[in-house]
Amino acid sequence: MSRSLKRLLVAGAAGFIGSNFVRLLRHTRPDLEVTVLDKLTYAGNRANLLEFEGTEGYRFVHGDICDAGLVDTLAGQADAIVNFAAETHVDRSLMDPFAFIETDVRGTAVLCEAARKHEHEVFLLVSTDEVYGEVPAGRSAETDAFRPRSPYSASKAAGEHIAHAYAESFGLPLLVTRGSNTYGPYQYPEKLIPVLITNAVDGLRLPLYKDGSAVRDYLFVEDHCRAIAQVLFDAPGSGAYNVGTGAETTGLEVAEAVLEIMAKPKSLIEFVADRPGHDHRYALDISRITALGWEPRVTFAEGLERTVRWYVEHQEWWRPLKSGEYWDYYRRNYRPLVS
Ligand code: NAD
Ligand code: TYD
Repeated sequence: MSRSLKRLLVAGAAGFIGSNFVRLLRHTRPDLEVTVLDKLTYAGNRANLLEFEGTEGYRFVHGDICDAGLVDTLAGQADAIVNFAAETHVDRSLMDPFAFIETDVRGTAVLCEAARKHEHEVFLLVSTDEVYGEVPAGRSAETDAFRPRSPYSASKAAGEHIAHAYAESFGLPLLVTRGSNTYGPYQYPEKLIPVLITNAVDGLRLPLYKDGSAVRDYLFVEDHCRAIAQVLFDAPGSGAYNVGTGAETTGLEVAEAVLEIMAKPKSLIEFVADRPGHDHRYALDISRITALGWEPRVTFAEGLERTVRWYVEHQEWWRPLKSGEYWDYYRRNYRPLVS
């Protein structure tokens, strides 16, 4: 099938994945009208979408997905919503859980309500593999139970539960993507890969929790965005789709690969105190989305090389972010390893 959407409301698109997603849509579907709604939190940056300002079929609205009046107005002017808006960083969720509950749970509910009221063709919720919780062995299938363990993943899971309740109770046409750890250009330098790269540029230590052995499935942002677009336009009916590569990489392997690409010494790696409740491994069964015709195109080696190059060449983008509040957060977050 192919959904012929004309006017899309994209919430949270001034952030990392959302801005890459809007870039993909503007290039591949120039006739699709896109309205971005974003609160511009510390993680949102209007400059991420600067190239589209003033172009036909693009509009930026500064606002909050929890603002029911504003969301209702914008939803009335669209035939579908894609929601990226969220508080997204696990370590920050340990410091301020309520910000996550407000946006990731209540904000998702406000969007569901507006999509239901305006009888949208589809509501796509961008979720995460973290809703399954830690996966010591095997791979998570879409039918697995949620066992979130951090305030971030619990609020994403709760937001998903609300959306599923709207689908069951009110017939909301709901699509969900559960992506794995995404990396690439425009990622705020608090997640692992941009922390490692930007620290390495400045010759600072590369902090790894405990012994750097936690495993993630690192997905290049362009691949993740293509998957979301494919689900949005081609997935039949309602349903959830895991999105990942199937590869497993430890934090230590990531740090060593970054240093290798940048020709910096491995001695820059510093093991620090573990994250409380650190999920040691996530792993996804991706057979449902590959059956839809999607597969990752960018290997980790190529994606990391491209990402390192982007951060090296776009220091004007990330240097202003690594100041003031950022270092307060950094000092609160990273503690020496006590063995
Ligand atoms: P991000 O932190 O870079 O961006 C989040 C964006 O949401 C920002 O632009 C921010 O200003 C906006 N926002 C936050 N609260 C808002 C509110 N109340 N109203 C309107 N806008 C608000 O996040 P990201 O990494 O791009 O993640 C996007 C989505 O993808 C999130 O829902 C996240 O849970 C999900 N996801 C992320 C990853 C990853 O590895 N980054 C992996 C899987 C899923
Ligand atoms: P992160 O990018 O925060 O994503 P996730 O939401 O999956 O936790 O972290 C990825 C992995 O890297 C995770 O195992 C925690 C670890 N990590 C570090 O070792 N050091 C760091 O500075 C960060 C931010 C993460």
